[in-house]
Amino acid sequence: MIDQTMIPDIDPIALPAPIWLLKFLLLLTFTLHILAMNVAVGGGFVAAFTEYFGRKKKSQNHFELSRGIAKMLPPFTAFTITLGVAPLLFLQVLYGQFFYTSTILMAWPWLSVIVIFILAYYGYYIFSFRWEKLNGKRFWAVLISATMLATIGLIYVNNIVLMLTPDKWKAMYFANPHGTHMNFDDATLIPRYLHYIISALAVAGVVVIMWGMRKLKSDEQLGKWAIRYGAWWFLIPTFINIGVGVWWLIALPREFMLMFMGGNQLATGYFLVGLASIFVCIMLMFVGMNASKPIGKIMAAKLFFLITIVTMILMRHELREAYLKPYINWDAVQTEPQWGVIIIFALLLVGGLITVIWMLKKSFGKPAIN
Ligand code: HEM
Repeated sequence: MIDQTMIPDIDPIALPAPIWLLKFLLLLTFTLHILAMNVAVGGGFVAAFTEYFGRKKKSQNHFELSRGIAKMLPPFTAFTITLGVAPLLFLQVLYGQFFYTSTILMAWPWLSVIVIFILAYYGYYIFSFRWEKLNGKRFWAVLISATMLATIGLIYVNNIVLMLTPDKWKAMYFANPHGTHMNFDDATLIPRYLHYIISALAVAGVVVIMWGMRKLKSDEQLGKWAIRYGAWWFLIPTFINIGVGVWWLIALPREFMLMFMGGNQLATGYFLVGLASIFVCIMLMFVGMNASKPIGKIMAAKLFFLITIVTMILMRHELREAYLKPYINWDAVQTEPQWGVIIIFALLLVGGLITVIWMLKKSFGKPAIN
C-alpha cells in the first residue's frame, strides 16, 4: 500500500509549457550541466595526479599539462553552476513535490553546498592564478578543491535518489525532523555516485586529448604525449566504470533492473545503444592513440562517447519515471503553455550557448588538423 500522505499536492497553477517540452529541456540542460561538471571535477583530479606524477618523474610534459588544465578549471566550474540553474528550474516545475520534500529532509547538508562550493571555487582560482608561486603546494590545492566539488556531487546524488523514494520520508522525518539526513542506506547510492565521478575522469581524459591535439602544431612531442596520456585517462576509468555500471544495475530494485533487460523497450533500447557506442568508442580510442594521424579517429571516438553519455542520461530519466510512476499521473497534470516566454527562453539559451562556444574557442583555440 503506497502512503501518499507525505507527498505535497501538485501546484494548482498549471505548468507553463507542455510536459514533453519541459522534460526535453530538463534533459538537455542537465546534459550540459553534467558535461561541464565532468571537466570541473574530473579535470581537478587529473590535474592533481598529473602534478604528482610530474614531480615524481621530474617531467616537464606533466607540468605543461597541469598548467593547461589549471586555466580551464575556473571557467568550467562557473559553467557547472550556471548550467545547473536551468535543470534546477525544470526539476522543480516537473517534480517539485518530490524534490522539495527530500531537500527539506536533508536541509543542512544541502545548504552546506554553498559554503563548500565557494571554498572549492576559491581553491581553483588560487591553483590557476598562482600556479607558478604555489609550486610544491599545487597538488594539495587542486586535490582539496576537486574533492570538495566531488562532495557536492555526493550531496546531489543523495537528494536526487531520496526524492525517488517517498515511502521512506515519513519514518525519516519522525526519527529526526532537523533536516540532517543523508540517504546512504539506499543500495544504489554509492554505485550511482561512483559512476558519475569515474566518468568525470574519463571525460577529463578526453579534454586532455583535445588539449594535446591543439599542441600538435606548436610542440609535436608534447601533443603526442598528451594524446596518449589523455587516452589512458579515458580508457582506464571507462573500463572500471563498466563494472560500476553493472553494480548500479544489480543494486536497483529488481523490477527496475529488469526494465533495462527487455522489460521496457525504450529503456532496453537506450541501454543497448549506450553499450554498443561505448565499445565502438573504446576501439576507436585504442586505434587513435597509436595512430600517426590520430585526429579523425579521436573525433569519431568523441562522437560515440557523447552518444553513450546521452543514452545514459535517457536511461536515468526512464529510471526516475519508473520510480515515480505510482505517485504521478501525468495525464492529470494541467498545462497552460506560455509560448511567448518559452520562445524568449529558447532564444536566450541558444544565444548563451553560442557565446560560451565562442568564448571557449577564443580562450582555448582549435585543434591542429593533420
Ligand atoms: C560543482 C558542483 C556540482 C557537482 C559536482 C554536481 C554534480 C551533480 C551530479 C553528480 C548530479 C547527478 C545526481 C543524480 O542523478 O543522482 C547532479 C544533478 C543535478 N545538479 Fe549538479 N552538481 C554541482 C553543482 C550544481 C549546482 C550549483 C546546481 C544548481 C545551481 C546544480 C544543479 C543540478 C540539478 C538540478 C541536478 C538534477 C537534475 C535532474 O535530476 O534531472 N548542480 N549534479
